[in-house]
Amino acid sequence: MSYHPEGIPPHGGQLVNRIATPEQKEIFISKAEFLPRVQLDQRAVSDLEMIAIGGFSPLTGFMNQQDYDRVVAEMRLANGTVWSIPITLSVSEEVAASLTEGGLVRLDNPEGRFIGVLELTQKYRYDKQREAINVYRTDEEKHPGVQVVYNQGPVNLAGDVWLLERDRHAYFPAYQIDPAESRQLFQQKGWKTVVGFQTRNPIHRAHEYIQKCALETVDGLFLHPLVGATKDDDIPADVRMRCYEILLEHYYPQDRVILAINPSAMRYAGPREAIFHALIRKNYGCTHFIVGRDHAGVGDYYGTYDAQYIFAEFKPEEIGITPMMFEHAFYCTRTKQMATTKTSPSKPEERVHLSGTKVREMLRRGELPPPEFSRPEVAAELARAMKVPV
Ligand code: ADX
Repeated sequence: MSYHPEGIPPHGGQLVNRIATPEQKEIFISKAEFLPRVQLDQRAVSDLEMIAIGGFSPLTGFMNQQDYDRVVAEMRLANGTVWSIPITLSVSEEVAASLTEGGLVRLDNPEGRFIGVLELTQKYRYDKQREAINVYRTDEEKHPGVQVVYNQGPVNLAGDVWLLERDRHAYFPAYQIDPAESRQLFQQKGWKTVVGFQTRNPIHRAHEYIQKCALETVDGLFLHPLVGATKDDDIPADVRMRCYEILLEHYYPQDRVILAINPSAMRYAGPREAIFHALIRKNYGCTHFIVGRDHAGVGDYYGTYDAQYIFAEFKPEEIGITPMMFEHAFYCTRTKQMATTKTSPSKPEERVHLSGTKVREMLRRGELPPPEFSRPEVAAELARAMKVPV
């Protein structure tokens, strides 16, 4: 990969900023009372936030039909830029009918607070089953990502957005580092290469292993847990964040790691979401991105390495950020360390396989994950948070 002295360019070339200026904010507030309203769900709030801070660059709003159709069919925006996940604002027929194309729409959060504005340019119907099959590779309603699509309204609203203001995160203000800031931080630290890590699970030793393997070859690690909407049985973000803090304190060199939150919602779209996750981290300034076993997968919808194979469908320069692929990591009882089949001669029975799902299941059964699975300090925190008696 070529070296960029100013940092890696954002996806599409420009870091988007759709946070209203104080003047714009004042105008929007003065109009708010007279504007038609749309109430956003948690995922749409996350999407609005991500668009506004540039995490979804080059998107400046919710997708129109031209972008949507090509993203669903070919993983590209209408202009050909790679994009793998539809970013849409879906509403009911009734809500759609009450809105006029060409006008401004007030966007409220689920609590009814005015948080943004949409300049409505297009309303369009879409085929949910087509979206499910193309994006999620299944139309089964029990897939948590497909379920969201099936439950949302039948009409998409398109247009540029503004976020009224950038609030500090209610729970993790210290870790709210937006793309413009992370880019600056990487420069300040002199990191020329930075690997991004996506996660929605409590940290386990396979995560630690692949992060550290990656860190051996780059300057810095950008730990970027997703804290937007996840499915109900995932471990809550505050517990996961505490586990990260504990692990960083005891087991990582402080000057090589930045912990920051990713406000996005989880889609569970496996391969397509791996591309999406990589592009987001490129916007945050990462040059590399970790893609391990069944990245962003759920159940057995995707093959173990499908999320790695999908990168081969694009030219490296179209993605821009370099994926770092890792095989399924396990604790090897023969060599007494974390390994993969690339680095260990073990037989299958000598491998302790770990996964976020297994950790969740153990905790639910009232069992503590063993040290081969989780660092003891992390296991203790999980037990405390999930009220597991020890
Ligand atoms: S994800 O939905 O965010 O991908 P998770 O938090 O479990 O789930 O995974 C974070 C990253 O670590 C992903 O890139 C995933 O592929 C990788 N990963 C998780 N467990 C393992 C493992 N045992 N071996 C290799 N990679 C793993």
